[in-house]
Amino acid sequence: MSDASFSSGGFPARRMRRLRQNATLREMLATVRLDRRDLIAPMFVRAGTGARWPIAALPRQEQISPDVAAETAKRWRDLGLRAVLLFGIPEKKDAVGSGAWDAAGPVCQAALRIKRAVPDMLVIADVCLCEYTDHGHCGPIYTRSDGVQDVDNDAALALLCQAALAYAQAGADVIAPSDMMDGRIGAIRAALDAAQFTHVPILSYAVKFASCLYGPFREAAGSCPQFGDRRTYQMDPRALGQVRPEVALDIAEGADLVMVKPAGAYLDVIATVRAACQLPVVAYHVSGEYAMIVAAAAAGCFEEKPAVMELIGGIKRAGADLIITYFAERLAGWLG
Ligand code: PBG
Ligand code: ZN
Repeated sequence: MSDASFSSGGFPARRMRRLRQNATLREMLATVRLDRRDLIAPMFVRAGTGARWPIAALPRQEQISPDVAAETAKRWRDLGLRAVLLFGIPEKKDAVGSGAWDAAGPVCQAALRIKRAVPDMLVIADVCLCEYTDHGHCGPIYTRSDGVQDVDNDAALALLCQAALAYAQAGADVIAPSDMMDGRIGAIRAALDAAQFTHVPILSYAVKFASCLYGPFREAAGSCPQFGDRRTYQMDPRALGQVRPEVALDIAEGADLVMVKPAGAYLDVIATVRAACQLPVVAYHVSGEYAMIVAAAAAGCFEEKPAVMELIGGIKRAGADLIITYFAERLAGWLG
């Protein structure tokens, strides 16, 4: 260390523990602070009225109908939460995922109702097709010239644009594409601009790894791939070299905020992205990370509250400006 304060004096003149003796001073020196305004709460919406369906894989989370989504948003707003991230569960699925851009579908209906009931709740709409396709992939399937079935990247773009436009028209404040198709940010930006949604920002799932930690989400959203996996489009957790290009491309194409997902095993990636770009960085603490903590706390491994504060706090310390977490409601209560 070149800093003189680190090299000058050693024990007994320098006692770092002196900074830890007074609880008030400890509180003042806690410079990495979680704040309710940093949190984004995921919401699973499904057609119906006055309905809630528990999600077995995600304790305390539920699928809710659009009217309940509006009530929930109101409750969360009263708790100090500022943003929700909407995922839709359609009544019918097909090969192209046409439910994704249905103006009468649950995401559009929830966006409309939330904005009407709680105008200052930020509504972020996840854009992807996997909840809406009968095969569970994030884009339509085609057979490549070598006979292999794959997701048709360029055909997916037009469909993602339709979904993004439907959500913007329904009042979503932010559009968040999570599909990992190449070129989607540019395509969606152009589509939004052409429809006079130049003011609607894009939160890009820029660095999204193919992770086993999405398991509970896929049960919650009914979006399990029916064959194969997502490794031809989501990133390989071992491929550190792809992080910067993915972020650079999305920024060049017009992303306004960039996301890293999952969060806990990727703190180094969050720090890298934080250092590499000037834009807000969002981290997604995903369903499997949530389920692990809830299960470990239930098994008596640790108390849930301090564990969540430490683990979500670590994501903040790594450099995330905003954190998407299924603990948002609990954290809002704890943070006061
Ligand atoms: C859809 C999507 C997924 C998640 C967010 N958007 C699942 C996936 O890619 O299979 C995962 C979120 C979580 O696990 O909490 N593309
Ligand atoms: Zn998807």
